[in-house]
Amino acid sequence: MNTAFKAVKITEKVYWVGAIDWAIRDFHGYSTPRGSTYNAYLILADKITLVDTVKRPFMDELLARVSSVIDPSKIDYIVSNHSEMDHSGSLVEVIDKVSPEKVFASKMGTKALFQHFGLVVDEVANGAELDLGNLTLKFLETRMIHWPDSMFTYIPEEKVLFSQDAFGMHLASAERFADELSPDILRRESDKYYANIVLPYSPMVKKTLEKVADMNLEIGHLCPDHGPIWRGKDIGEIIGWYSEYVAQKPRRKAVVLYDTMWGSTEKMARAITDGLSETGADVKVLDVRASSRSEVITELLFAGAVIVGSPTLNQTFFPTLADVLNYSKGLKPHNLIGATFGSYGWSGEAAGQLQSILEDMGVKIVSEPLKINYVPTAEALTECREFGLKIGNELKKAVENER
Ligand code: FEO
Repeated sequence: MNTAFKAVKITEKVYWVGAIDWAIRDFHGYSTPRGSTYNAYLILADKITLVDTVKRPFMDELLARVSSVIDPSKIDYIVSNHSEMDHSGSLVEVIDKVSPEKVFASKMGTKALFQHFGLVVDEVANGAELDLGNLTLKFLETRMIHWPDSMFTYIPEEKVLFSQDAFGMHLASAERFADELSPDILRRESDKYYANIVLPYSPMVKKTLEKVADMNLEIGHLCPDHGPIWRGKDIGEIIGWYSEYVAQKPRRKAVVLYDTMWGSTEKMARAITDGLSETGADVKVLDVRASSRSEVITELLFAGAVIVGSPTLNQTFFPTLADVLNYSKGLKPHNLIGATFGSYGWSGEAAGQLQSILEDMGVKIVSEPLKINYVPTAEALTECREFGLKIGNELKKAVENER
């Protein structure tokens, strides 16, 4: 019996029994420099219930943590709040080892678990309740936050809400509660998680926040499937952040993204940045060759302007820009103005092509592409600075109009 891992008590009857992935640095293309956790929860009710499992390689850690509290074979029920394999990857083997009486999932969850593993599980309807003897589970479907199968599970008697991916973050830590961690790191990792995972589903998040508010749930502990558990006043804090994400009101922040070949487009980016800064904009400059796509979308979350530059290479823009723009387009950032720029030798297609991509993303173009032949002269750099000034002033107007 593996006794190296212990459960962490959350309330009298609820324990965290998940796994900490200190080493992961790439979560299906999302850079995770701080690692992650796969949270699972054990409810010590008359009917002992496990909420979610963990990524497959971490099953032993999950079962060891359960064993520190009860014999895993005593688990009666398993609830799958989300079918993605970081939470269901070890489900088949856990079922094999503990032989639960029943496994529950949402309507779409039952389909997804069958399609992933050929598993047949019991369906719980939206709003249904499950009697655990001395405790009750209430289920709330949260379709497309962020998969069709996603649901929340609530224990009224313990005031615990299990929210699967929502309100989570990729952050490995020895601490289990948000109030034990740095607020700055929590905010950054929550922003990043929302931007990279939840952003395109903001309309559904808005409805869910409204529904949870209408239900007037008393929540003492908010337990997501990744990162720390929220308790006390921190619950209001993270829900407040989600209200900001849903609104995605642009700020006077401009993000300059560029790649460069022999330094000319970089010089343009620097002069454009100076012009933007002079208007009072908060400017973030990212050389996309040195920045992950997930950092880029995080910076765009509350930006009001995006300015993209690339030299022309083989009649197109650099592939690094194709990566970040394609990724960002899928995540549907809102309320952006923008423009493009780049140096070129003879054909000069890159800046125009980049503008078309920004238009496809719904970015409002506020200037013609700025193209400079080969190496920018002093006059050309002044033109770049004026380009930055113009976009900065447009940003100021756009943000004022949003107020
Ligand atoms: Fe953490 Fe959507 O899985």
